Amino acid sequence: GKEPVRVLVTGAAGQIGYALVPMIARGVMLGPDQPVILHMLDIPPAAEALNGVKMELVDAAFPLLKGVVATTDVVEGCTGVNIAIMVGGFPRKEGMERKDVMSKNVSIYKSQASALEKHAAANCKVLVVANPANTNALILKEFAPSIPEKNITCLTRLDHNRALGQISERLNVQVSDVKNAIIWGNHSSTQYPDVNHATVKTPSGEKPVRELVADDAWYENGLLLISIILFGLSTLKCSHKLHGEFIATVQQRGAAIIKARKLSSALSAASSACDHIRDWVLGTPEGTWVSMGVYSDGSYNVPAGLIYSFPVTCRNGEWTIVQGLSIDELSRKKLDLTAEELTEEKALAYSCLS
Ligand code: NAI
Repeated sequence: GKEPVRVLVTGAAGQIGYALVPMIARGVMLGPDQPVILHMLDIPPAAEALNGVKMELVDAAFPLLKGVVATTDVVEGCTGVNIAIMVGGFPRKEGMERKDVMSKNVSIYKSQASALEKHAAANCKVLVVANPANTNALILKEFAPSIPEKNITCLTRLDHNRALGQISERLNVQVSDVKNAIIWGNHSSTQYPDVNHATVKTPSGEKPVRELVADDAWYENGLLLISIILFGLSTLKCSHKLHGEFIATVQQRGAAIIKARKLSSALSAASSACDHIRDWVLGTPEGTWVSMGVYSDGSYNVPAGLIYSFPVTCRNGEWTIVQGLSIDELSRKKLDLTAEELTEEKALAYSCLS
């Protein structure tokens, strides 16, 4: 059989951790024939809870799970890991300044970067989930210079999946028939969920939105177009409302979940983290792209040196930014706005270092 892969989950005693580790142990992340050894890291106040999670992993008797390391020691947690899912971080609490939260996370990500740099397996792939996810990933990259920058990413797949889910709900089509939405930028409310290039499989074949549009005002709104195609022109009346609603729904979905559950999203975050790693390692299907926060090379005139969410395809364990997509004026503004926020976050993070 295959050699086990070591997967680190930081913040493993938290809510996302609790949903994520059984998915990994069951083969959801790396496939049903890939044995895994789970490394779970948390901080001393959570040590007892972490041990409880370890007991449950034993009790679940997962055939693929070849070992569990549950620890509050960063070096032990990071040693030999091939994949690192960074879920642990310092949450923003009521009354806290943005700078104080940033400062706490900068120091966490700086020290965990050093531990990964020294002790992880060569070519370790890193996914940062903890917020501010893009900027935490950037700090991790800065302080783990020997880890290739291509290996350091952050999670925007949850937002991507939310966009697919919203299109599917609204149009009453299977989510598996919807693809190629894009999340641009920051995992924050300035993100730009873009449906201009999304397609839906219909009885008369796959419908690329652009192909079906004659009018620019319509083109602005991929979702509207798909609904016109599927439901007829009566949808036209609410075009702008629909578009605005779509973007706002995706952007504000996290807050809506907190309101409903009194806890933040965990199962969908865990599931999306599995999707992110699975597609990165095993590849995206032909003709499909996904959204990942990656180190910008200046594509689409996004400033280089930010961790920014782009549409990517993956092959042989490497992601590539999808090139050549047309960006209309409205989209351009939204791409720039979220880049500005990330540039500001980067400056704030650096000011915490000095
Ligand atoms: P949680 O508070 O339930 O769990 C966080 C865990 O991290 C706790 O067990 C805590 O003890 C641990 N932790 C804190 N500092 C640590 C450190 N230095 N090293 C290791 N562990 C540490 O939070 P939850 O709900 O699991 O969320 C985790 C993070 O994921 C939050 O930052 C949240 O904002 C973020 N998130 C990101 C999403 C995304 O799409 N990128 C989606 C949902 C949540």
